[in-house]
Amino acid sequence: MRQETARPDTFFNDENSNPHRHASFDDILAQRLSRRQVMAVAGAAAATVATGAATPALAAPPAGAARAGSTGPAPLQRLGFAAVGKSKADAVLVPPGYQVQVLYALGDPLFADVPAFRNDGTDTQFERRAGDHHDGMEYFGLSRRGQPDPMSSQRALLVVNHEATTDEKLTSFFLHADGGKAALPRPAAEVDKEIAIHGVSVVEIQRHGQRWQTIVGSPFNRRLTPETPMAISGPARGSRWMVTKYSVDGTRCRGTLNNCGTGKTPWGTFVTGEENWFGYFTRRADDDDARNDAREVVALNRYGRKAGAASRHGWETAGEADRYRRFDCSKTGSSADGSDDYRHEINTFGWIVEMDPYNPSAPVVKRTALGRCAHENAVFAPVKAGEPVVVYMGDDARNEYIYKFVSSAPWDPADAQAADRIAVGSKYLDHGTLYVARFDADGRGEWVELSLRNPAVAGYDKFRFESQADVVVHARIAGDAVKATRMDRPEWGGIHPRNGEVYFTLTNNSNRRVEPAKGAELAPDAANPRVYVDMKGDKKQEGNPNGHIVRLREDGGAASTRFVWDVYLFGAQADADRGLINLSGLTDDNDFSSPDGLWFSPYSGICWIQTDDGAYTDVTNCMMLAALPGRVGDGERRTLRYRKADGSEFTVTTYVGRAGEVKRFLVGPPGCEITGIAESPDGRALFVNIQHPGENTRMADVNDPSKYESQWPAKAGYGPGQRPRSATVVITRTDGGRIGT
Ligand code: FEO
Ligand code: CA
Ligand code: CA
Repeated sequence: MRQETARPDTFFNDENSNPHRHASFDDILAQRLSRRQVMAVAGAAAATVATGAATPALAAPPAGAARAGSTGPAPLQRLGFAAVGKSKADAVLVPPGYQVQVLYALGDPLFADVPAFRNDGTDTQFERRAGDHHDGMEYFGLSRRGQPDPMSSQRALLVVNHEATTDEKLTSFFLHADGGKAALPRPAAEVDKEIAIHGVSVVEIQRHGQRWQTIVGSPFNRRLTPETPMAISGPARGSRWMVTKYSVDGTRCRGTLNNCGTGKTPWGTFVTGEENWFGYFTRRADDDDARNDAREVVALNRYGRKAGAASRHGWETAGEADRYRRFDCSKTGSSADGSDDYRHEINTFGWIVEMDPYNPSAPVVKRTALGRCAHENAVFAPVKAGEPVVVYMGDDARNEYIYKFVSSAPWDPADAQAADRIAVGSKYLDHGTLYVARFDADGRGEWVELSLRNPAVAGYDKFRFESQADVVVHARIAGDAVKATRMDRPEWGGIHPRNGEVYFTLTNNSNRRVEPAKGAELAPDAANPRVYVDMKGDKKQEGNPNGHIVRLREDGGAASTRFVWDVYLFGAQADADRGLINLSGLTDDNDFSSPDGLWFSPYSGICWIQTDDGAYTDVTNCMMLAALPGRVGDGERRTLRYRKADGSEFTVTTYVGRAGEVKRFLVGPPGCEITGIAESPDGRALFVNIQHPGENTRMADVNDPSKYESQWPAKAGYGPGQRPRSATVVITRTDGGRIGT
């Protein structure tokens, strides 16, 4: 039933809220883009006279182009491409007039002395090659002389997360000639490869005409793996939770794991989020008793490692060396503090990790003030001189929370140009306030402080918080203490470049029920309002299988503790009930399921939405859509009416935003998810990651390519062999124009 929107609509300057703001790394970029775009539009108009035909999107400046004080290019009014149809083809499909080049795939050498990738399971040296499962990605421009230049569209460093690896049981079978050993103990030679394909890579790329290429042997090329030495900073540094045999004072740790989303700081560094790290650890069945420490047991249970949990790959069984044994997070030593074993090793993961891609010798740092969870990305609000730096983060697990960090230090624009970028990171990311989001039924919300200053945290009866180290290491438990809103799996956050509103994808949640029965089941609420059945063939999918995208507008700037929210977009198949499921009125041109990656182009303002779906894959492979959203409150209040088993009614009132123009731009090969996106600053090249094509292939078929779920990218002409590979593609327009316009 539709009703008028009747909820508080706080003051908001839709644009130009601070025309005097000082420049950050990205502002410099946006301002220079703006000038270039004006020149490009003028040039296109002249071309129209000469040829009688111009690209429609460039023939006239979009409305609002001349708005005073605007720091970015003018808002795009229409998407200038034809929607791509749903597809199950073994290919990357894009609209007519666009082309796809495979740029950087699993196993590609980063250094000149590394042999070419054979793609037959015999390759080694993965710590010097592209890793697996490309995920979040950022673009860092380089000048001709190799200096940081955020405006460069010719030369850059691409920094790519390598989240995980395709497995069936224990072994990452495509990496091994015979598929590997799917039983314990795992062979060290297999485990060494599987460890090395995780982490992050930095690869230099250059443009030659319409083509891009990686620069093998660039001095910037680099891999972070689960074995790279790193520093721990912020409140957890030196705390009891970080003490390991590797670092008895709890100040250092080894490596990064399950790197999912990314972020770019206002001072020009890269951050990566550690997501499903807990799955790499085993914990012995008798470990609860062995620990004799109630808080540690509560924490391990809350973070996915109950006693008796098995590890995903069995790395801990590959030998006696510490590099394997560290993946057993049981108490095996006799010390009281954990300095003789790896019982706390698991606490060194789950962080936002900062690195300086421009400086391979700078330390890599775990920024613990931002809290520990299953991190997706970290999106920074535009900075303003004299105001705090603000970071938004999602915790991707069913029923988990959305977080925000507000720095203690006010932003100094001079820091955008600092030479020691990691020192700037310490200034803004080691001291500040961590908040968690509560979405209220009236369409408002609150950021609730997670610290001992909050009596709900200090007095929590299920876990004794004694310090901010206790809080950040156990941010989820602090979120429980303050009754944060349990969301339908928060994935990426993004910030609308023109109005500052914050978007979060909520990918799906099989736990929603009108009448919750089992422990983890939850009734729908205003911000997570749908419960329905989506059939996949004859398989019933319950809860919220298709996900949605929530957005919020801060009351008075990014550091505010109050906000208003609505749901921008609901995933659904086009023919689903428009009263209860397809609330955004999706059609065959834009229906989707399970939004995950979300990123706003600073150039075009397009909101790019990527899917990691298993619910609609009977009809279409995963995809990327382009959208032009409006603003919080532009839609309507709606009440969803559910029927309980006893015949009574259960209603949920929510706030449905206006979808605006949404079009499918790309469909990937079977088994993949689409994730990770970056754009050259001139808006003419879009980098996208195709993660785990063919991941539903059976290990038994590893040497029978005819049975592979996908043979991409070999099928697209890239590289030897037929085993599927995660890869970065670059998308350009055949006429060299700007993407999406
Ligand atoms: Fe790595 Fe939740 O996606
Ligand atoms: Ca379906
Ligand atoms: Ca994701």
